[in-house]
Amino acid sequence: MRILSGLQPTGRLHLGNYFGMMQPSLQLQYEGEAYYFIADYHSLTSIQDAKALRENVRNLAIDFLACGLDPEKAVFFRQSDMPEHTELAWILSTVTPMPMLENCHSYKDKVANGFTPNHGLFAYPVLMAADILIYDSDRVPVGKDQKQHLEVTRDIATKINLAYGEGTLKVPEALIQEDTAVVAGLDGRKMSKSYDNTIGLFEDEKVLLKKVKRIVTDATPVEAPKPTEDSSILKLYKLVATNEEYDALVEDFKKGGRGYGDYKKQLFQKIWDFFAEARERRAQIVAQPGYVDDVLQAGATKARVVARRTLDRVRHAVGLG
Ligand code: ADP
Ligand code: TRP
Repeated sequence: MRILSGLQPTGRLHLGNYFGMMQPSLQLQYEGEAYYFIADYHSLTSIQDAKALRENVRNLAIDFLACGLDPEKAVFFRQSDMPEHTELAWILSTVTPMPMLENCHSYKDKVANGFTPNHGLFAYPVLMAADILIYDSDRVPVGKDQKQHLEVTRDIATKINLAYGEGTLKVPEALIQEDTAVVAGLDGRKMSKSYDNTIGLFEDEKVLLKKVKRIVTDATPVEAPKPTEDSSILKLYKLVATNEEYDALVEDFKKGGRGYGDYKKQLFQKIWDFFAEARERRAQIVAQPGYVDDVLQAGATKARVVARRTLDRVRHAVGLG
């Protein structure tokens, strides 16, 4: 089984990215051949600052490795070291109907929010399809918001095969990772950079506490039982605590007698402890100059073998070269 996923280097990682995409990816690296990459071509659609982009790429690579990506197990690389993806994207774009892209939520939402779209943003799902199809991928662990992009990927692969023959591209089968949770943010909406409601994985201790204190709660008095439905504190606690600890906190909510401030401190401590090991690994990685570049270079060399093979197969099938 080949597993593939990518993350855009658009800012520091938050708990939504971790539990929605990274944790499932990290588990899957031991179950098959994993290909994980930093989608820097994609993030050019929103970041036009070379220094910021380079810093984001570096931080994302360090964070991913600190969280447990094992470069001996998984092929870890930078998308822009693989121009083969963009060539395949062009070929795919020639069978992609415009309405299919016009229908994509990610694009429609940005336009609805007053964002003037560039062509890159419009064509974004085609490049994503190329990222996936160029490695003959079977499984793509991503959060639910990426589901439509994965359907587009299957459609495009099917259209290529109809036009140029079965087997030109592998249509990924069990593609969608249904069990990833949607992580709630500080204001109860989906945690997202765009809502400024995130909790970062590697926040400074004081900043983390401050953020957790910002979680929106209701006006239930200290002595009274607290509602357990739709509580952001409980939802986040569930992600970082054991089942027993979570059940105990739910009981505590039902009993009443403690204020939200108390619960927030408890949540803060659990989040802090949950990432203690990753924090330590992060510090070790930062202390080794050249390590991250070496890992990414070695990853690109391995990825190229597979990507080149698929691209040559497709070029031949469509009549190029
Ligand atoms: P953001 O919404 O902060 O811009 P991205 O769109 O860059 O996050 O998401 C990167 C990955 O993390 C995707 O696979 C996405 O599905 C996942 N992800 C992001 N936010 C969440 C969330 N709140 N819950 C679950 N998964 C998420
Ligand atoms: N679109 C994905 C996101 O925003 C990132 C991405 C780009 C990706 N190419 C991919 C994810 C290929 C999985 C597979 O999160």
